[in-house]
Amino acid sequence: MSSTPEGSPSLDATLRPASWDEYIGQNSVKNNLHILISAAKERATPPEHVLFYGPPGLGKTTLAHLIAHELGGALRSTSGPAIEKVGDLAALLNNLGPGDILFIDEIHRLPRTIEEVLYPAMESGVLNIIIGKGPSARTIELPLPPFTLVAATTRVADLSAPLRSRFSGGTFRLEFYRQEDIEQIIKRSAKILGVKIDTEGIQEIAKRSRATPRTANYLLKRARDVAQLKKVPLSAPVVREALGMLEVDELGLTPLDRKLLGALIERFGGGPAGVGALAAALSEEPETISEVHEPFLLQLGLIERTPRGRVATKAAYIHLGKSAPDNLNQKLL
Ligand code: ADE
Repeated sequence: MSSTPEGSPSLDATLRPASWDEYIGQNSVKNNLHILISAAKERATPPEHVLFYGPPGLGKTTLAHLIAHELGGALRSTSGPAIEKVGDLAALLNNLGPGDILFIDEIHRLPRTIEEVLYPAMESGVLNIIIGKGPSARTIELPLPPFTLVAATTRVADLSAPLRSRFSGGTFRLEFYRQEDIEQIIKRSAKILGVKIDTEGIQEIAKRSRATPRTANYLLKRARDVAQLKKVPLSAPVVREALGMLEVDELGLTPLDRKLLGALIERFGGGPAGVGALAAALSEEPETISEVHEPFLLQLGLIERTPRGRVATKAAYIHLGKSAPDNLNQKLL
């Protein structure tokens, strides 16, 4: 999953930071990338391959753009499921110019056959192409121009160990943002969009943004729509009204988040329940539950992961206005 339904490509591009200075938060990742890129530039070689992972909307693609920009090259974007044949990958790699970056989003969905061609390409800069079939088949080695692969995934555990080990430039986990960083991002976006918004309005959006820039920008745009139609300034009450209509509550939970907690508590007695069982109860894809919804519920401490499955915490019962059972602490063990 590279984007949530709220992602609008054109507006996302307008609001995307164009320089490191504009990219707020994720300081540890930024510092490490800075060293990797500066040292590689000094040696006049492409930086080694880099992998970003974490929940959707935290800025993985944006970092890839910034790396290409700093190298003075272009970002050639594709995604795991889009590379179907070895020839697709060969064409992408052969057309990279100096400073260009190959960006593969959702790399966990790369077909296995392609993965096996990618290993030597990443490690030794060669493409092994098999010509012919059966006993007369032979492999030819095509040398590639030096390149940097930047890849992103929401499911790092689904990557095979050999693939993971080839990201020799580093594997970086993107974290949820701090409230003050999200506030800065909203302030910047409002300025770009030409929207007047007061401090309380900013804080109100930030509070409900799931600590995620993409969601913060989405909520800002929806609140702007309401303010515009009502011909009033964008203030905290307008934000509350707009987000109330979207059924985004004061913690930033969506109807599906609340349904998930409700099902965990009502249908599974508070858990433990597996992702598959929860997804079936909600008629949703297990991936949507585990990649989009669970990470934030875990972050808020509304659910916990145990070896036997997900368990609702006391905070979840309180948030839904229910009383927690006496044996809750045993379940969390
Ligand atoms: N938009 C998306 N991610 C951002 C970030 N980290 N800083 C500023 N704006 C953003």
